[in-house]
Amino acid sequence: MSNPRGEFRSRLGFILAAAGSAVGLGNIWGFPTQAASNGGAAFLITYLMLAFVLAYPALMAELLIGRHTHQNMVTALESLPESGPLRSLGRFTGIGGLVTASLILSFYAIVAGWMLGFAASYPLKAMGVTHTAEWLITFDLPRNALLMLVFMGLTIAVVLGGVEDGIERWSRRLMPLLIATLIALSAYVLTLEGALAGLKAYLLPDFSKLLSRGLLIDALGSAFFSLSLGVGTMLIYGSYLSDKENIPRVGAQVALVDIGIAVLAGFLILPAMYVADARGVAIFNSSGGLLSEDTLIFTVLPALFETMGSIGVTLATAFFVLMSIAALTSSISMLEVPVAYLIERHGLTRHHATFLTGACIAAFSSLIVLNFGSLFGWVITVSTRYGQPLLGILICIFAGWVWRRDALLKELKKNDPDAASGLFWRIWPFYVKWLCPVIIGIIVFQSIV
Ligand code: PHE
Repeated sequence: MSNPRGEFRSRLGFILAAAGSAVGLGNIWGFPTQAASNGGAAFLITYLMLAFVLAYPALMAELLIGRHTHQNMVTALESLPESGPLRSLGRFTGIGGLVTASLILSFYAIVAGWMLGFAASYPLKAMGVTHTAEWLITFDLPRNALLMLVFMGLTIAVVLGGVEDGIERWSRRLMPLLIATLIALSAYVLTLEGALAGLKAYLLPDFSKLLSRGLLIDALGSAFFSLSLGVGTMLIYGSYLSDKENIPRVGAQVALVDIGIAVLAGFLILPAMYVADARGVAIFNSSGGLLSEDTLIFTVLPALFETMGSIGVTLATAFFVLMSIAALTSSISMLEVPVAYLIERHGLTRHHATFLTGACIAAFSSLIVLNFGSLFGWVITVSTRYGQPLLGILICIFAGWVWRRDALLKELKKNDPDAASGLFWRIWPFYVKWLCPVIIGIIVFQSIV
């Protein structure tokens, strides 16, 4: 009989779901543009180092705590300590995680809605439905609100299906499509004139940028955002993982897919920008830096597709469908965090929990849409730049200091009797106890002062 809490049916299903959570707008949009404006390969190297040294151990902390407790984030962190005050800290951290996951979803759904709008606009325009096609890519309030609601509707529909029939099934369908589309698009763009200059901007390191103070916090924030850390998404996915799986191994596979796709996306976005440049589309801002963020995705790339005639329509549709898929497999993991909490702690059915949380987050998203100028950037900064790393520190403290070492080792031995003599056990406990909290703390502290 299947587990009443829900459990991934297969290892591949878990890896695709967890990689689906990790691979999102952060990888395909955020990473390449940050790399471009922060010294190309210099940023890439910093990012890779932070990802392996800090983010992978933090990912393992979440997966291990989740798999050990088989509980939602609040109950999981509360159940690790033996004493009262630490239990309260666990509850506080868990609630912090689910609030932050909801905040991230509230802005993510708006951006993902734009992706849906662009994805639908190109084929509609080609079919002659010009008016709707143009409306879908204007940034006015009703369109932003409507598309956000459509995207939230899709997220809710998947999460309603539960772990196996919702999250796992859709990740298995969508992730291969995402990877195939990304490879096909990069391969095509690399054949176009100008692509080489993009490759140079991406791969030639400019080490002078490495010394800038903002770079570390940006790269750390990117790595944490990209691996979906701190907010309990990996913890909850870990909690649905069977005791038979070797966590250090599947965790490494998830991290490698995530990092690999971010790096691969660099081979699409940067060359595409320089192809656009070769075709006369402006790609630099007035101070000589590369255009990035919203201008890149919604101005530069559409202008590039425009220069390509009918193949441009296919490429544009494929690109925005790719972005929408990446966003959906991430948003379902964010919604699952509060949903699992409501089901397990407050006895709600999955149906009620999903609709209730989905509606609250959609209402908050609408508030952001209505007060875009003042709220949008603020919510992003609070949740991703500070919330995620700070919660990440607390989770590392729980894994490294609060969780008893013998219990931890027992967890690892569930599927690997020789865990005590393995490399992971010799390195990871030290990392998660000392290095992660201290280094993450220093970087966050520096960025605040
Ligand atoms: N990892 C996702 C991305 O790269 C974002 C995310 C953050 C997902 C936090 C879940 C939790 O876009």
